[in-house]
Amino acid sequence: MGPFAWRDGVLHAEEAPLPALAEAVGTPVYVYSAEAIRGSYRRLGAAFAPLGARFHYALKASPNLHVCRLIRELGAGMDVVSGGELERAWLAGTPMHEVVFAGVGKSESEIRAALDGRFSPLRGEAARFGSPSPEGRDAVGLFNCESESELEAIARVAGQLGRRARVAVRVNPNVDPHTHEYTTTGKVENKFGVDADRVVELFDRWAGDPAVELTGLHVHIGSPVPTVEPYAEAIAVLLSLIDELEARGHAVRVLDLGGGWPVDYREGEVPPIEAYADRIVPLLEPRTRAGLQVCLEPGRFLLANSGVLLTRVEHVKRGRAKTFVICDAGMHVLIRPALYRAFHFVWPVRWSGAEPRRAEDAGLAGLASCDVVGPICETGDFLARDRRLPPLARGELLAVFSAGAYGMSMASNYNDHGRPAEVLVEGERALVIAERQSLAALLETERSPRELDLGELPVAEPVAPRPAQPK
Ligand SMILES: Cc1ncc(COP(=O)(O)O)c(C=O)c1O
Repeated sequence: MGPFAWRDGVLHAEEAPLPALAEAVGTPVYVYSAEAIRGSYRRLGAAFAPLGARFHYALKASPNLHVCRLIRELGAGMDVVSGGELERAWLAGTPMHEVVFAGVGKSESEIRAALDGRFSPLRGEAARFGSPSPEGRDAVGLFNCESESELEAIARVAGQLGRRARVAVRVNPNVDPHTHEYTTTGKVENKFGVDADRVVELFDRWAGDPAVELTGLHVHIGSPVPTVEPYAEAIAVLLSLIDELEARGHAVRVLDLGGGWPVDYREGEVPPIEAYADRIVPLLEPRTRAGLQVCLEPGRFLLANSGVLLTRVEHVKRGRAKTFVICDAGMHVLIRPALYRAFHFVWPVRWSGAEPRRAEDAGLAGLASCDVVGPICETGDFLARDRRLPPLARGELLAVFSAGAYGMSMASNYNDHGRPAEVLVEGERALVIAERQSLAALLETERSPRELDLGELPVAEPVAPRPAQPK
């Protein structure tokens, strides 16, 4: 279990005992290991070193500013998918030219702030977070553009600002990543990217535009991708597109392979990252030697197994059909089990028995079946179903493993629960990097109703599509 191990009957994060941590900050709480994050970054770096790959951390996985700063210190750029994430990347100390702006629904105001810091919603606020003002900052290094409509919007805004935006076209390669249907993003029926057979036409039409420079291709087929072959299939589609584009006189300088790099939620569930690199590196090495810059957007790989969620058992209910272990964390804290039927290994923080196997069946005697559920008024509110666990009692502390990615970032206030605290452990030190959200903070936006002046509604002008431009 790497950074999370039982010593003297108590689960530790690095050198920090988790019962003491839970006592100090309360539950539910996300706990991250700084060394685990660094270790996974170094491992990914070593695997893809032959390509000289650049990493942009997909901060949607765990957007906490202090986590982002730690990853930034390792040398990563940031992959963002909203104006809010863009500002986080800035507050984390990322120069804009190392930011990649992805996302299928960029608004004009987000595009404007990504091109010119004078339009940042953080103006006047950045100093409170120890960051320089965004006003004088550059444009983002790359927009990963998902449609021609978006390209038109980027060109329109860049033109107004007198800037030239660097853009990669996100390609939909129609490849099945064999992951959950909700996180499958590279098939033609998914909303993401431009169909592969439309990409050349798009480059032809936009070549030489004064406001946008089409400079690369981007692909993200899904998350997580549990086998390597779908990456190889997608890369084949992209390489043949690059050949065709270059034959038509377009320079493709960047190939961004996205994220989806897998982790073990169960022990030994997926091949190691090195096996992915062994398959991918030879496909791309000739191109990188010829000057192509390869980028990756890891999120889950850096964070998932670098974090656990601690939750307290509130009640144990022995029903006719099942035993329910009712905890203070549920779908409002960690939605992955409810949303994707995702597996998270759950085990008591105090445990003196043999090391459990991190799987549905921990491989130990004396276990009994139960559902580990939350307090939310939904039947879909569960952390683990039909799981064999040691006998549990009220007050017991449980660890939900592999919860560092897409845990806190997808947490909600459903049923009026404040969002949990976050703690970053470094050796023996435990730093609260996000306070538990108070009820007062949760209610703040509703404090005083404000009457709207509806006046006369302006008639919205539809935006005319760009005429075809012969090359
Ligand atoms: C465009 C893009 N890049 C990168 C990622 C990160 O994926 P992962 O956390 O699985 O590495 C995502 C996840 O949704 C994504 O949509």
